[in-house]
Amino acid sequence: MSGQREPQLAAAEAEHAARVHGHIAAEILAAGGWLSFERFMDVALYAPGLGYYSAGAHKFGGGGDFTTAPEISALFGACVARQCAEVLAAVGRGGILEIGAGSGRLAADVLGRLERSGELPEHYWILEISADLRERQRRLLGERLPHLMGRVMWLDAPPVQPFDGVILANEVLDALPVARFRRRRSRVEELGVAVDGDRFIWAARDAGRDMAGAVDVLARAAAAAGAGEWPDGYLSEYCPRLAAWTAAVTRPLAAGAVLWFDYGLPRAHYYLPERHDGTLLCHFRHRAHADPLRLPGLEDITAWVDFTALALAAAGAGFEVAGFTTQTYFLAGLGVDQEMLALAQSDENRFARLANEARRLMLPGEMGERFKAMAWTRGMRAALGGFALRDLRHVL
Ligand SMILES: C[S@@+](CC[C@H](N)C(=O)[O-])C[C@H]1O[C@@H](n2cnc3c(N)ncnc32)[C@H](O)[C@@H]1O
Repeated sequence: MSGQREPQLAAAEAEHAARVHGHIAAEILAAGGWLSFERFMDVALYAPGLGYYSAGAHKFGGGGDFTTAPEISALFGACVARQCAEVLAAVGRGGILEIGAGSGRLAADVLGRLERSGELPEHYWILEISADLRERQRRLLGERLPHLMGRVMWLDAPPVQPFDGVILANEVLDALPVARFRRRRSRVEELGVAVDGDRFIWAARDAGRDMAGAVDVLARAAAAAGAGEWPDGYLSEYCPRLAAWTAAVTRPLAAGAVLWFDYGLPRAHYYLPERHDGTLLCHFRHRAHADPLRLPGLEDITAWVDFTALALAAAGAGFEVAGFTTQTYFLAGLGVDQEMLALAQSDENRFARLANEARRLMLPGEMGERFKAMAWTRGMRAALGGFALRDLRHVL
C-alpha cells in the first residue's frame, strides 16, 4: 500500500506481526526465496498460533475488523432458520452443521428461531478452525441459550458419521487461500512472495502446467460470454482447493441441503477484462485495502467466490445445485418482512431499527447483490423458499 500511512499497532500487535513476519520470511528462505501466494495466504490466516484465524487477532462487528450479515441483523439468522426448517421437514428432522461460526451469532439466531417455531434440529454442530472463536461461540450460546447447549457440539474435523439435515457456511469460502496469476501475451505467470529487506514483495515465475491450464479455462469462459479478451498483464486469482475442500466438509451429509453464502460472481463476470487486478481484499479495523503482504497475521485476507467453480464442485461432491440467487431474493423469498414484524413485537423503535438493518442486508448498493446464496442438495425433494423468487442458475 505505497502512499498509505502505516497503522498504529499496539505493542502486542506489533510483537505478533513480527513473529508472523519472521515465520513467513524463514519459510520463504527455506523454499529458495519464493513462496506461492496460496501458501502465503494459508500461513497468514491459518498457521497454528500465528494466523489471523488461528491466533485470535480478529474481531467481528462494530469494534472489530469487519462485519457480516449475522452481525448486522438477527433477520439474517431468522430467514436462514426458515430455510433450515424446510429442509429438516423434508428429510424428517436431522441436524445442522455450521462451518466457520464466527462470533456464534448465526448459530444463536438460527437455534432461537427454530425453538420458537417448535422446529429444533436434533443437533447443532460447529466446525470451527479457530480456538479463540470457539470460546467466543461457547460463551455467546451459553448466555443466550443455556438450555440448548446439550444439542451444540464443536468439531475439529468434518463428522465421520453420516447425518441428514443442513450444512451452513456464511463467509467462509472467501477466506480459502487462492493462487494468484498474471497472464502475459504468450504465457502465464504465478505470483508469489519474496523478501526484500524487512518487507514482503510480489515476485513472478512461470506458472506450472496445472495453473496455466486453469487460467486458460477462466479466460475462455470470460471471452465466451462476450466479455472480450483479457489485456496483456491481466492479474487475478482462483481457488485451487475449492472442490477438494467443499467435497471434504460436505461428505457426511447423507440427505439434505448445503447452504453457501458469500460475496462473489458467476465466472464470466468475475473474470471480466476490466477487473484486471483481481478481487483480493484485506480488512483491518474496518478499513479495506488490497495489499495482503502488509500485515500478515493481523488482518483478514479475502477473495471473491467464483460461483461457477462452486457449482462445478457440487457435481464432483455428489450434489445438485438446487438454487443460486442474491441475498436480497433469498431473504425476501423466506419472508423477511414477516420476520421483521415478529422480531419487533409491536415496538415501533425496534421495527425502525430492523427496517434499517434490512436495508443494509438487501439494498443493491449494500450487501443485497454482491452477496449470493447457493444451495446444494442430495437425497431430498422439496422446494427451497430462499431460491423460489429468483433463480439465477442460468448465469453460472
Ligand atoms: C469471515 S468469518 C465468518 C464468520 C461467520 N460465519 C459470520 O458470518 O459472521 C470466517 C469464519 O470461518 C472460520 N474458518 C475459516 N476457515 C475455516 C476452515 N477451513 N474450517 C473451519 N472454519 C474455518 C473462521 O475461523 C471464522 O469463524
